[in-house]
Amino acid sequence: MVPVQDMVVPPAFLLGVGAGTTSNKAMNTDPTRANLALPPCVGYGRRWCRMRRMARAQHHRVCPVWVGYLLASPIRTLFQDPQKILAPYVSSGMRVLDVGPAMGFFTLPLARLVGPPGRVICVDVQEKMLSALMRRARRANLADRIEARVCDADSLRVTGLALTIDFVLAFAVVHEVGNATRFFGEIQSVLTPRGRVLFAEPRGHVSERAFQESLAVAKQNGLHKTESLKIARSHAAILERA
Ligand SMILES: C[S@@+](CC[C@H](N)C(=O)[O-])C[C@H]1O[C@@H](n2cnc3c(N)ncnc32)[C@H](O)[C@@H]1O
Repeated sequence: MVPVQDMVVPPAFLLGVGAGTTSNKAMNTDPTRANLALPPCVGYGRRWCRMRRMARAQHHRVCPVWVGYLLASPIRTLFQDPQKILAPYVSSGMRVLDVGPAMGFFTLPLARLVGPPGRVICVDVQEKMLSALMRRARRANLADRIEARVCDADSLRVTGLALTIDFVLAFAVVHEVGNATRFFGEIQSVLTPRGRVLFAEPRGHVSERAFQESLAVAKQNGLHKTESLKIARSHAAILERA
């Protein structure tokens, strides 16, 4: 039987269909904004309606686990080839942080690029994403160079990694993060002085303006854009320490 993650299914989020997030703003801090299309709260108390909106926004903010299977589909490689995207920035022996890896579409190629002397540290808020990622890593014989850590929604919990990371991948994750300021601040803190960040957001979810806003937040936190990248269906840039 074909494993679910290897089935050829169109990756919905890459086709611009919702991946479970409800806002295309980079700083998704106002949960009420996400449900403006809801019918008016006729017949309900205001407080109840507000709680309902917040619950829905909270529920939708993070990419659902089933989308993780779509994101890991090999068909995605046809237009987002991890090897081509990552090879210019990642080499043997590097220490890499993959933020919000889901089931590891980019993580496994990263592990191949860093080779046996390197390490890929994955931080995600969803334990189920990480356990599927590690299953895939074990099948590919790459588990010994990958470390998976569950983080908090408002903190990557990377204090022990200060100044040790050569490359950070933040692909299609920032629009799901509540506090972009803290997010970029934490990323900046783990980077080595010559370290680089590949920051990408899906065009289907995130407007050009929201991406620019995120770049401005990154800059305020000591990460400035040094290169614009062309990646299909994405806004993308390389960031470095200011
Ligand atoms: C749309 S998926 C992108 C997955 C992967 N980077 C890719 O491109 O295939 C977003 C991932 O970010 C994770 N995520 C959401 N909010 C996060 C946060 N605050 N910190 C870390 N990971 C987060 C989600 O659980 C999900 O696995």
